Amino acid sequence: MKEINLLPERLQHMPSVHLVENWYAMSFAEILEFENKPPDPETLKLFVEILTKIRNRHSDVVPTMAQGIKELKDSHHVDSSMEHSIQYFLDRFYMSRISIRMLINQHTLLFGKMPCPSRHVGSIDPYCNVVSVLNDAYENARFLCDQYYLVSPDLVVKEHNGVNTGNPIEIVYVPSHLYHMVFELFKNAMRAVVEHHGSAATDYPPIEALVSLGKEDITIKISDRGGGIPRRNTELLFQYMYSTAPQPPASIDQSNTVPLAGYGYGLPLSRLYARYFQGDLMVTSYDGYGTDAVIFLKVRFESMKTSL
Ligand SMILES: Nc1ncnc2c1ncn2[C@@H]1O[C@H](COP(=O)(O)OP(=O)(O)O)[C@@H](O)[C@H]1O
Ligand SMILES: [Mg+2]
Repeated sequence: MKEINLLPERLQHMPSVHLVENWYAMSFAEILEFENKPPDPETLKLFVEILTKIRNRHSDVVPTMAQGIKELKDSHHVDSSMEHSIQYFLDRFYMSRISIRMLINQHTLLFGKMPCPSRHVGSIDPYCNVVSVLNDAYENARFLCDQYYLVSPDLVVKEHNGVNTGNPIEIVYVPSHLYHMVFELFKNAMRAVVEHHGSAATDYPPIEALVSLGKEDITIKISDRGGGIPRRNTELLFQYMYSTAPQPPASIDQSNTVPLAGYGYGLPLSRLYARYFQGDLMVTSYDGYGTDAVIFLKVRFESMKTSL
């Protein structure tokens, strides 16, 4: 909330930014109510209820904030220094949102009513199978791609377990975070491939995914032959709202369909998810040929332990 107050003043005055700020103020006030309450069962029950309410209240923060920035851009000139501070703010703002939602989910899942028996610990899967999350995300991205273009490229997955040869690659991770990242990368790859070869083509080069496990990292590389990105534009890829796709309808709820692309939030948000657990996301492109998007996830945190 303090950082919202440090935003360029014009942006603070946009109606959607106001709305978001009010949500935060309301939620903060509700949480403060618990500051001095005894942690008895009654309070804990109420706390879970309030957290659930807060989570729902904030579910549209990303599109609403995006709307606020659009309002600013439509009504004022935004110079590069303001652009820069908005980018800086949004990275921190969305990172803290990922973090708060992670904690809320974890608390409500662990303290909410009747946790069903499963291997999950809250939202964490101690044996998250990377390739099966990849396949899920691919299928759903393909569904959108088929809806939009009536065609879609195939997927070829290669799994290389460099620690336990032949065994599936598993990681302690939040499956929904992993899903989010690879779903975004698949949508981008599919769009590039179909646009590059034309939706009337009879076949498309498949998207190739490599999942590899070493002693420290899991690396997921998603490669497409979608014609690549000029080097000049690679700086822009991680900017919020940078998109070469036509802008989808303003309100997601009105159209009832999820667009394949167009908000320009896919890459920057996915990189935040990767960085949240000390990983990263990078994009390397070969203009005229295709693009590699790589997600690095940490399997071990040895160095962190020693530095603590
Ligand atoms: N695999 C890819 N091949 C070619 N261009 C890409 C690829 N991935 C991303 N891009 C470019 O980066 C832009 C931003 O991507 P993203 O952040 O996912 O937003 P969106 O998909 O909504 O446009 C895309 O509009 C596209 O121009
Ligand atoms: Mg995208």
